[in-house]
Amino acid sequence: MNLLRTKSVEQSIRDTEEPSHRLRRELSALDLTVFGVGVIIGTGIFVLTGQVAKDKAGPAVALSFILAAVVCGLAALCYAEFASTVPVAGSAYTFSYATIGEFPAWIIGWDLILEMALGAAVVSVGWSGYFASLLDDIGITLPSAIADPPGEGGTVNVPAICLVLLVTALLVLGVKISSRVNAVVVAIKVSVVLLVIFAGLFFVKGANYDPFIPPSEPTPNVEGLKAPLIQEIFGSAPVSYGWLGIFAAVAIVFFAYIGFDIVATAAEEARRPQRDLPIGLIGSLIVTAVLYAAVSTVVAGMQNYKQLSTEAPLADAFKAVHHPAFATVVNVGAVIGLTTVVMILLLGQSRIFFAMGRDGLMPPWLSAVHPRFGTPYRSTILMGLIVAVLAGFIPLSELAELVNIGTLFAFLVVSLAVLILRRTRPDLPRSFRTPWVPVIPILSVLACLFVMINLPIETWLRFIVWMIVGTVVYAAYGYRNSRLRQRGDDVPVKHKS
Ligand code: ALA
Repeated sequence: MNLLRTKSVEQSIRDTEEPSHRLRRELSALDLTVFGVGVIIGTGIFVLTGQVAKDKAGPAVALSFILAAVVCGLAALCYAEFASTVPVAGSAYTFSYATIGEFPAWIIGWDLILEMALGAAVVSVGWSGYFASLLDDIGITLPSAIADPPGEGGTVNVPAICLVLLVTALLVLGVKISSRVNAVVVAIKVSVVLLVIFAGLFFVKGANYDPFIPPSEPTPNVEGLKAPLIQEIFGSAPVSYGWLGIFAAVAIVFFAYIGFDIVATAAEEARRPQRDLPIGLIGSLIVTAVLYAAVSTVVAGMQNYKQLSTEAPLADAFKAVHHPAFATVVNVGAVIGLTTVVMILLLGQSRIFFAMGRDGLMPPWLSAVHPRFGTPYRSTILMGLIVAVLAGFIPLSELAELVNIGTLFAFLVVSLAVLILRRTRPDLPRSFRTPWVPVIPILSVLACLFVMINLPIETWLRFIVWMIVGTVVYAAYGYRNSRLRQRGDDVPVKHKS
């Protein structure tokens, strides 16, 4: 029983060493920042802002965005070291396999499905809100039954399903978003956000900020399993608004920053990782945090927070002040901008499946590459179908909470891993080193935990069930079929301590 067998760093490199897969070191700090902003800006700011301002934080929702950015910044510094330690493109899954061991790597890989696949479902649902709003602008009103998920007045979210299937088809065909297309989409997204900030400013009414932090009030409809774990731990009745509401909002708007970790995975392609990676990571976090704080404050000033729309709040705020033309521009930008986020998340997921299949932890037929398109088509199609069903039938906020707990857990493990690896493998070359170890990793672990306990109890239960299922799958399949175990070239984890 060696659950901690690791794949040697050398083996990880050999596995990706075919010349066609070698990546060139050509990304600058600016490229990394643009890439980051491209993945980060999505449903979080375009949709969740309305929901959390309305139900949890009130006009002070910007504070939640800033606190979430701090949590992500701490994790980013740890992620960057982890990513740069194993000079192989891949996610936290690959890094942990080469360093902490097979079972933890499996757990992280399984957990990342929540971040990437489920995250893509959330963004598609957010996209569908803007798509419906855009159709509305040109006089086509989709019946709620086919445009909203069950529980929010509909039966099935058809636009979200169509988007996921379309993106899946593109990925199977091997269509990639070139960095130029990405840069154009980033420019569109940032311009739309700036438009909302500067045009919206003219419609802000001071009265909408009074009170800025509404006094906390009991939320009788949020009870039992829907209450945040922290409020249960301290035995308080669930409340909205006030500081507790702001913290509960942090746990949701955290979603708005998801994706910066994908920047860390570009370590292998960065020209000067030690300098450029932290600039790219922290840079994209700072840019988005400033935009998020500004845009959420403006939107909350345009309408009373209780009247904010929960489907397309940035566009609908302009409709509320009778400027539908601005709303249309915002809708177009959101529809274009959110599409690439779905694509990048699904691509990230297919790479993780591919790596897990290659390592024998998932059935190898899953990671077979298409003879003509050269893409892992089976895993991509399977995942696309699952994500489409999720996007079609589950309400957005419930999905988002599960994505967040999964991602926070991965960040927590990565932060711990930085501490562990400094002890067990001080010899590994690290092209980026987290500053102030152990302070930053410890703060990161605590911050992730704090945000996690601000999520509802039912989210915890779902997460725990997901992890138990993952453990069973590993015991039943991965443990036996691991190529590392079959090859017998695993490295005992402590051999260099
Ligand atoms: N951060 C991305 C979004 O908000 C995933 O859509």
